[in-house]
Amino acid sequence: MKIVKNIFLSLALCSFSIISFAGEGMWLPLLLKSLNEGEMQSMGMKLSAEDIYSVNKSSLKDAIVHFGGFCTSEIISSEGLMLTNHHCGYGQIQSHSSIDNNMLKNGFWAMTKEEELANPGLFARFINRIDDVTEMALAGVKEGMSDKERQSIIDKNLEAVKKNYTLEEFQDVMIRPFYNGNQYFAFVTTTFNDVRLVGAPPESIGKFGSDTDNWVWPRHTGDFSLFRIYAGPDNKPADYSADNVPYKPKHFLPISLDGVEEDDFTLIFGFPGRTNQYLPGVAVEQTMNTLNPAKIKIRDTALKIIDKYMREDEEVRIQYASKFARVANYWKKWIGENQGLKSTDALGRKAKFEADFVKNNESENGKSLLTAFNKAYNDIEEVALTRDYYQEIAIRNIELLNMQRAIRSLVSRYDENGEKGYTDFLPRVKGYLDGFYKNYQPKIDQEVFAALTEMYGSEAKEMYIPKTLKTASMASKEGYRALADQIYTNTLFTDHVKVTEVLDLTPEQAVAKIKNDAAYKLGVEWESLYNSTIADPYSRQKNEIDSLQRIYMQSIIETFPKQKFYPDANSTMRVTYGQVKGYRPKDAVHYTPVTYLDGVIEKYVPDDYEFDVSDKLLQLHRTKDYGQYADTNGKVPVCFIGSNHTTGGNSGSPAIDAHGNLIGLNFDRVWEGTMSDINYDPSICRNIMVDARYILFIVDKYAGAGHLIDEMKLVHPKKDMKVTETIPKKKKTWKWWKR
Ligand code: ARG
Ligand code: ASP
Repeated sequence: MKIVKNIFLSLALCSFSIISFAGEGMWLPLLLKSLNEGEMQSMGMKLSAEDIYSVNKSSLKDAIVHFGGFCTSEIISSEGLMLTNHHCGYGQIQSHSSIDNNMLKNGFWAMTKEEELANPGLFARFINRIDDVTEMALAGVKEGMSDKERQSIIDKNLEAVKKNYTLEEFQDVMIRPFYNGNQYFAFVTTTFNDVRLVGAPPESIGKFGSDTDNWVWPRHTGDFSLFRIYAGPDNKPADYSADNVPYKPKHFLPISLDGVEEDDFTLIFGFPGRTNQYLPGVAVEQTMNTLNPAKIKIRDTALKIIDKYMREDEEVRIQYASKFARVANYWKKWIGENQGLKSTDALGRKAKFEADFVKNNESENGKSLLTAFNKAYNDIEEVALTRDYYQEIAIRNIELLNMQRAIRSLVSRYDENGEKGYTDFLPRVKGYLDGFYKNYQPKIDQEVFAALTEMYGSEAKEMYIPKTLKTASMASKEGYRALADQIYTNTLFTDHVKVTEVLDLTPEQAVAKIKNDAAYKLGVEWESLYNSTIADPYSRQKNEIDSLQRIYMQSIIETFPKQKFYPDANSTMRVTYGQVKGYRPKDAVHYTPVTYLDGVIEKYVPDDYEFDVSDKLLQLHRTKDYGQYADTNGKVPVCFIGSNHTTGGNSGSPAIDAHGNLIGLNFDRVWEGTMSDINYDPSICRNIMVDARYILFIVDKYAGAGHLIDEMKLVHPKKDMKVTETIPKKKKTWKWWKR
């Protein structure tokens, strides 16, 4: 238990240490009391830690929802109304759209509850409680154990921990490692499966600026959509039924109409996905110089091809919009990340940190750990790179090969369990294929295939290239084109009707036909080569790195007992906090923290698919029909930025003010700061939020959905405060963001 005690000890000590990085960190809600409350209050927060997270009374956490497991959302009315990003609800909005009823283009507003649209498969998950189970999880674990031994003890322990919980049928308990496996926390969850679409602005608002503005400040996107949780008549989770009723939440967020100004306290509550804040320099170097550039190049190639077709054809644009956005998003992020790592001298900082670490670490351990890291990252580089190539090419970007994976699981069910295995699994595969073909254009995919297989053939080492590609490569570019042509003309899998016909034969006949298919054969060949030459060695070496990282993390905490270290994000519930804050990305450039509707009009390009503005919005701007949603300067705010440490998964997270009211909706980060996942820098890392007043303005004035506004609770915390107490005019300013 030495490790654990040390962590606690250092965490406890740290709460008294000097704040050097206000804004950095993603904290566990149940530890706010001991670690963060003081700092948060000194930054202006009027709440207590107990108001944010409590298992005894309703608290902010009861309004926070994990949206489908990939985004965050929050409850904003007593009738289970839920707010998240437009880009989080995108798949759902798209699935209800067609050429005749294009909700992406025109938006959608349910004017009555009956008009709200069901979304099979989408879930909304609450966290009921969080428990530190480290002691039980690590019972019996000793230093010097092999990783396998260690893991098997932990697995058994976790099973036992889970059994300690008495759960309702709709509850679950998830246990996750923190600090790279040095601590464990259990999360009791309640999941609702009837989540309906209530409203979404048109893309010209919800995705204004599209990929050009993505990851960029100044921003003018109304990136929000509205859903509603439905429950059974007893207010408990129930499968979809027309008889279900709007969920009555334990807590919902009131919405502030008073807006924000620079230095206001902000809190972001949500489910950040993954960060890697404690990597050794050698790992950062590999990401920056080897892995990111390869992934960027692959996506660059695929995106150019898709973009060309999307611009030519409206139907293709709808079909590929979601896929394109997904691929473009991280393509652009990696480009920004690399620039940011360079501009903040991430490698220099890591080197300095490591020198300090070695100096302060009492044992010889420090140095040998870093040497071991160097060797491990060197050893893994080739397979790690080829693995990225394979995954980006054969899994993410060539759709025909990706869909083969569903077909391969069907065939393997047949091979393992015969006819029954096949027939039982078939409906799932068919369901998947229905969705797949709805948005599939073989001609685009064929072009992507030709370009990316050529790239793989010329970049990967000979031993990693499947024979079929090698044969093609002899004839260079034309060879790959010819191969693509041959595969795409002969395969069954570019045609939904043909595939369905084959799948409906007897399992034996179907499997025989599938196994003889050209695309299927290439898929199998490539995958098995990948498994033996890449996946296996990769996972062996990665396990070694993971175990070094666990020891390194533990050592870091022990070596610097006065510093406070937050655990890397792992898709669990976290609180981050900071202030509304502009930034200076480079010499002579200063960004202020709030954008306005005037800026939307400045960016307006008629008929452009990224920057078009609808007549209705132009008119509202022209007539200044802003209702109660304008700022004191008479303008409607659109977005603002703050120094909150966020990452992917935080999209849709509420931005909450000092009093616990919603002031905004998190959806992005600024370009210069996208390296925050690896090297957070308080001077230029900013999260981007839609101002709550813009959301209300669109719902009310643009969509005419006043009935939704009536459901919400609109408040004036600043005005109320001025009446009851006098607040100091000039708040304390924090100078740490200045470089
Ligand atoms: N960059 C934001 C995030 O990582 C928003 C992505 C959605 N928007 C887009 N244009 N692709 O999710
Ligand atoms: N846009 C991201 C998301 O979807 C948030 C981020 O990466 O800052 O979660």
